Amino acid sequence: MQGLKRLEYRGYDSAGVALAAPGMDKIAWRKKAGRLNKLVEDLEKKPMPDATVAIGHTRWATNGVPSDVNAHPHMSQDGKIAVIHNGIIENASELKFNLEAEGYTFASSTDTEVAAKLLGKIANEIVEKQGAPDLFEAMRRVARMLTGAFTLLAVDSRQPDIVVGARHDSPLVVGLGEGENYLGSDVAAFVAYTKHAMELGQDQAVCISADKVIVTDFEGNVVSNPKRFTVDWDASAAEKGGWDSYMDKEIHEDPAAVSETLLGRFDAKGTLNLDEVHIDEDVFRQVDKIIVVACGTASYAGLVAKYAIEHWVRIPVEVELAHEFRYRDPILTPRTLVVAISQSGETMDTLMALRHAREQGSRVLAICNTQGSTIPRESDAVLYTHAGPEIAVASTKAFVAQIVAAYLLGLYLAQVKGTMFRDEIRHIVTDLKAMPEKIQWVLDTQADTIAKTAKQMLNAHSFIFLGRHVGYPVALEGALKLKEIAYTFSEGFAAGELKHGPIALVDAGEPVVCIIPSPRGRAVLHSKMLSSIEEVKARGAFTIAVAEEGDESVANYADVTFWRPQCPTLLSPLVDVVPLQLFAMDMSVLKKNDVDKPRNLAKSVTVE
Ligand code: F6R
Repeated sequence: MQGLKRLEYRGYDSAGVALAAPGMDKIAWRKKAGRLNKLVEDLEKKPMPDATVAIGHTRWATNGVPSDVNAHPHMSQDGKIAVIHNGIIENASELKFNLEAEGYTFASSTDTEVAAKLLGKIANEIVEKQGAPDLFEAMRRVARMLTGAFTLLAVDSRQPDIVVGARHDSPLVVGLGEGENYLGSDVAAFVAYTKHAMELGQDQAVCISADKVIVTDFEGNVVSNPKRFTVDWDASAAEKGGWDSYMDKEIHEDPAAVSETLLGRFDAKGTLNLDEVHIDEDVFRQVDKIIVVACGTASYAGLVAKYAIEHWVRIPVEVELAHEFRYRDPILTPRTLVVAISQSGETMDTLMALRHAREQGSRVLAICNTQGSTIPRESDAVLYTHAGPEIAVASTKAFVAQIVAAYLLGLYLAQVKGTMFRDEIRHIVTDLKAMPEKIQWVLDTQADTIAKTAKQMLNAHSFIFLGRHVGYPVALEGALKLKEIAYTFSEGFAAGELKHGPIALVDAGEPVVCIIPSPRGRAVLHSKMLSSIEEVKARGAFTIAVAEEGDESVANYADVTFWRPQCPTLLSPLVDVVPLQLFAMDMSVLKKNDVDKPRNLAKSVTVE
């Protein structure tokens, strides 16, 4: 249950458990629609028997509505085997049709139940033929029959000392304990019990017992050296601590996410050192184009990267939503560097995009926050962000860490390609190192104004966010946060687009949030953004500015201002986004929404 609690952020439509112990004829199981606490209450009222092996699941519905019956686990026809599943089995209808023809019956409308019935049938065929059960072999046979994406785990009452699993295009990691072993869709499931973990590769199956872990491919060939790693954060990092929500805690970890991601990446002379990336400097020198592939918040981090890297390195940077990239026949060459940005490392759209890029001969560098996840494993190299575990579904600290990692990549490319002087790079690095303190200043001094404004805006039907240059991705991110957790319609626009359409949306009282660049930076950016805020103000908008301390000019146009300390324009997204994160959270709390678990969403989108 502890493990499930830590994984609940991945899906929270329903939850269930299944247990086996010596002497049990059938599997003991329980499942409930709704949040995990519904299941917990049920188990407290009616405890389950002790067990030697158990599987548990929290669900984000893909196939079949959230309900008790569609919740996992699903059982084999004879009740001897229980199965849980992540992903989508694409040939489920066909398999179900054949099973029904053989007399199998189905209680739910899920693809998982098809896998459970099929596994039960094959396991029984093995028992009949060999006189003994072999759940591991049955699982491999089932895995070979399925198409789509899946992680499957199963227990069998005839073998109450093992749990077996198989994965194809969906995550699964092994936790290596002492006298106990674990499987989880990420390390959060078992980090409280062991920090020693093992990665499973694509199309591998696993069998764990208390003291043994066997990994094979789907044909049964033993995988000799699965990659081991040690989790670099403590279980306490995934606790809420004294905070009201994970999101609150994680926004307040923005400064640490930035400093930790910078840590250890420079030598004594301030030279950037990305040896961990394991791509030869010469290869980086040859790179003539970057394509960032990512989704949602991560793609906005990519957009910030575009402005910085093009300016510093003078090579084109395209930013593409991963799901669009893959299907549009993009132009890729061996000199194209594809940068896949992903907090979870499991986003299926991003994974598919990187596979496509590698098939076309491009190198892929992952910017990722999760060790042992699929995207870094399948990339040529990885630059880890060190934001620590992000539990709230809405991404906050991972976003700032992704931006920092992208800056590091840009500065590194500038260093190896010689597009900037060493001193210029050192100067930017010094500015970067000062950013955590500036973020902290926003958290310490602006929270009250932000909370007051959220109260004032509570009944607004929609919000417009405007930004220019690096303020544009910040506007997109501010709008996304508000949609996600406050369920308020909001849209981010490049401020220059205003006159090309969106200004028609502005009428009296419409809240418009404007990201105002530094007046000490490029004057044209500042004055153009002031024109935009002036234009919406003139049409009766309620204007909220995010502006630099001391920028007097904003007072003429802004009804409310969230201040940020002075910083270079290219680095400003790191601070500008912070008040918008707080604002969305405050709105969500006031609306009594579940801040950490917004409706219909899940943290890792492991299906396309
Ligand atoms: C928004 C959010 C999502 C993710 C997106 C990509 O708050 O969290 O938009 O950014 O689903 O997820 P990752 O970074 O895990 O690939």
